[in-house]
Amino acid sequence: MDSWLLGIDIGTSACKAIAVDRQGNVSAKALVGYPVVSLNPGWAEQEPAHWWDAAQRALEQVLAALPDRRAIEGIGLSGQMHGLTPLDENGEVLRQAMLWCDQRAAPQCEEITARAGGLDGLLQLVQNRMLPGFTAGKLLWMREHEPALFERMRRMLNPKDYLRYRLTGEYVTDVSDASGTGLFDVRKRQWSTHLLTLLDLPRSLLPDVVESSERTGTLRPELAERWGLPARTPVFGGGGDSVIQTTSMGVIDRGMLGVTLGTAGIVAAGGRECPNPDGSLQISCGNAPGRWHVMGVTLSAGGAFEWLRNSLAQFNRERALPSYAELIELARSAEPGAAGLLFLPYLLGERCPHVSANGRGAWIGLTTMHSGAHLVRSTIEGVLLNLRSIAALCANAGLGGSELRASGGATAEPFWRQMLADVLQCEVSTVTGAAEGGAYGAVLAAGVGSGRWSSLDEAVGCLRVVDRNQPDRSLGALYDARFATFHGLYDTLRQTFEQIAREPSATS
Ligand code: XUL
Repeated sequence: MDSWLLGIDIGTSACKAIAVDRQGNVSAKALVGYPVVSLNPGWAEQEPAHWWDAAQRALEQVLAALPDRRAIEGIGLSGQMHGLTPLDENGEVLRQAMLWCDQRAAPQCEEITARAGGLDGLLQLVQNRMLPGFTAGKLLWMREHEPALFERMRRMLNPKDYLRYRLTGEYVTDVSDASGTGLFDVRKRQWSTHLLTLLDLPRSLLPDVVESSERTGTLRPELAERWGLPARTPVFGGGGDSVIQTTSMGVIDRGMLGVTLGTAGIVAAGGRECPNPDGSLQISCGNAPGRWHVMGVTLSAGGAFEWLRNSLAQFNRERALPSYAELIELARSAEPGAAGLLFLPYLLGERCPHVSANGRGAWIGLTTMHSGAHLVRSTIEGVLLNLRSIAALCANAGLGGSELRASGGATAEPFWRQMLADVLQCEVSTVTGAAEGGAYGAVLAAGVGSGRWSSLDEAVGCLRVVDRNQPDRSLGALYDARFATFHGLYDTLRQTFEQIAREPSATS
């Protein structure tokens, strides 16, 4: 008789739920979307109630598609990292969550770095640079700008852990998601009580921490009954999406890079060490004890393409959004290198390869001979050239190798996968489950916890390569040249970006 593990991922644009059978096949899936709210440039918030509504609806759709909902082994969770979800003493949400791409806390991050004794001191404590997307800066921002709300806060949770709280009543996070708060000693896999003291933040605000495969309580009885699930259905630790999505591609050891092309773009590596000597990359605990995960995150990857799609739609209000297929056809019709046009994808500021809250997007090199097709193609190329910069940082840190695995919404498109192979001049493969992203990784971790697999190594052993894209070597010289020009652009424009951010019109 078959049985299933459920995976739920609280993404940035939607909640995804999947059911995975004992052979590792996805038997059912559902996606329910919700909006990001931006009240000011550089701000990004979401209503936690939307996550909960979407998760319930997605789960109900998945369960309706299964032959036997009594045969659920457990639930694994994944979610967008770094989102500050503040709760009062009754577990009520105090304000909308501030998301991973929210840049408002840049000044507070400088303050935290100073209190930690500078970058070196901070790297000693939490092994990461303090990025505005991280949770710590947002806590200080709230203390400064919303003191009355801050006073009432008793707990802060990450997005997937808010879902866990709704499902089980427990305040718990896992080591990979805790790493993204900026308050976690990633090497020791525990909260940095030293940094908490320096920042005058009480430990009681933070949830307990478990490894990704540990059980974190059981489904509330009323929910188990409502959904017809076994009483005491276990819910497992899970992981921050960027980390567990890399795990879901089987990238848990050295020698391989994982690229995720979601709203954000991630280049990541796994391993048994915890290297981040200069803080240029982000380091998190991995999804198994004794494992770590290193990544560089660019804030606008698929998000830049989505922005372009929405913007192009405004030229012709009569018709619906251009389809992805139409845009890809347009991109394909332009020559590789987009006739010299370069796109800088820093639409939300940037985190890696440049830490820059004020970075901006740009097209450079426009001439009258460029068409819409060049705009679309250069957008894709710009996103991928930026990923190449991050891959180069990984290579400098001794991470990566000849194989690159890809996942995330955009990689469902063969064109994006081939472009990835061409721009990075590297073989690109995708594996089973990659399309399900974080939700599939959450299932792998939960399956180790439920005893389906004896270890994470065994769990990722069930993945099979389904597609391979070889780079077109004849484009190597072209993309090397494009990369050299692209790589210098940010430094050339940095002062201009800072100046733009200071202009009154930038905040209107
Ligand atoms: C990782 C990060 C994003 C979010 C949303 O550091 O900020 O990848 O987790 O996916």
